[in-house]
Amino acid sequence: SELTIENKAKPMPFTLGDPNVSEDVKLKYRYLELRDPAMYEAFRLRSKAAIAARNVLDANGFLEVETPILTKSTPEGARDYLVPSRVHSGEFYALPQSPQLFKQLLMVGGFDRYFQIAKCFRDEDLRADRQPEFTQIDVEMSFCNQEDVIKVAEDLLEGIFSACDIEVKAPFNRIKYRDAMEWYGSDKPDLRYDLKMVDVIDIFERCDNEIFSKIAAQPHKNRIKALKVPGADLVFSKREMKSFEDFVRKFGASGLGYFQMKEDGLKGPLIKFFSDDDIQAIIDRTELEVGDVVFFGAGEKKLVWDYMGRFRNFIAEHEKMNLVDSDKYEFVWVVDFPMFEVEDGRVKALHHPFTQPVDTDKDDVEEIESIAYDIVLNGTELGGGSIRIHKEEVQEEIFKLLGIEEEEAQEKFGFLLDALKFGAPPHGGFAMGFDRMMMLISKKSSIRDVIAFPKTQKASCILTQAPSEVDNAQLRDLHIRLREKKQ
Ligand code: AMO
Repeated sequence: SELTIENKAKPMPFTLGDPNVSEDVKLKYRYLELRDPAMYEAFRLRSKAAIAARNVLDANGFLEVETPILTKSTPEGARDYLVPSRVHSGEFYALPQSPQLFKQLLMVGGFDRYFQIAKCFRDEDLRADRQPEFTQIDVEMSFCNQEDVIKVAEDLLEGIFSACDIEVKAPFNRIKYRDAMEWYGSDKPDLRYDLKMVDVIDIFERCDNEIFSKIAAQPHKNRIKALKVPGADLVFSKREMKSFEDFVRKFGASGLGYFQMKEDGLKGPLIKFFSDDDIQAIIDRTELEVGDVVFFGAGEKKLVWDYMGRFRNFIAEHEKMNLVDSDKYEFVWVVDFPMFEVEDGRVKALHHPFTQPVDTDKDDVEEIESIAYDIVLNGTELGGGSIRIHKEEVQEEIFKLLGIEEEEAQEKFGFLLDALKFGAPPHGGFAMGFDRMMMLISKKSSIRDVIAFPKTQKASCILTQAPSEVDNAQLRDLHIRLREKKQ
């Protein structure tokens, strides 16, 4: 009966849902983009999921505790965001890369079951599934083993997915880290499709091609992997098959061999190097049928795993193969991670240095296993965790193996080492990437679509223009002088 104009609106700078609008424009007017009902739906689900997570954990006796944002660096493998202190000239806080050390301290504090929906900050190269600030559902518990932790994580996932009207059924499959690498070339395999690699290094060792037989002579260091792609010969031209080589070359491969299974036997450019028996051995090992193509990657094992793993995803997603069922939610636990990896001669923790090793008494540090596990969904690492070191002397030994000197260990983690001396209980936990989870639940291609005010690829906020310069008085308060002024 009455109409009141509360406020006048300017014309929209772009049409909602228009795919041709640039990301920059949309982010500048993010509050307008949020008016899109599809956006609202993603945030409605996010809210439901967060509430479900709290309910499941509360029902299981977990206490929600907040941990500091202004803190000291925690090593999760990325650069820290630093905050200069005004009161302590020349000193800095670090924003937490995760609440890892505080949640361990809560276990020493006798809290036994903790959780938090925690903001984490990592200054790393950004991708579609990474933001500089993101949210984890972070959990820790005392007097537990891997099974107990996995059970809590599975209950949590079932509860969250069910709140979003998706039925998932635990227990989820498990695969050992080493098998994941050998079979799928990745520690986060997409198991919505079947493609599995097999080893053919022993067969290639006998072939007449010097490049292959040389690689095959060092089976400890190298791999020759075969990936059968059913029906590929029926859909791809020879030119397309050759062009796949360009794809793997981007990831360091020197080439990509292939054989085609024709009505009259195995064909392909490399066939001349193999005896009839070995050709049969390849057919048997890879279970080839007419119309299939088998692709080969050969070289240093980590390189081969990497590019063959990427090729596996690439071919499954190729429009002519279309092996990915986008309605499927295929969870898998990757377990038995190695404790360390060696990169450029430096020993690094594969998860983090607080992970419980299984047995440190090995000649090769890369052989040391840890009680660490990741949960993977449709080829995305959703979360990870471990049983932790709860004995000070073991923690010190691990720091030593990582090349962290005693003095540095004291300076960086003295508070943890101290705490472990006061009867720290055995404990463990995990953290799930909440944004990534919501990206998959809402079937979005970027986590930016499930974060209300995300940052760009270059870690800036176009809406507020952060980061930005500050005035000299502020810098003076913080005891900071800039070496160069931005032009
Ligand atoms: P981790 O480093 O594996 O483990 O992190 C856990 C999960 O957090 C998500 N994640 C991210 N999401 C968005 N943007 C990022 N930059 C980003 N980095 C990580 C991922 C990842 O699986 N403290 C340990 C957990 C533990 O051991 O309990 C930790 O933080 O989904």
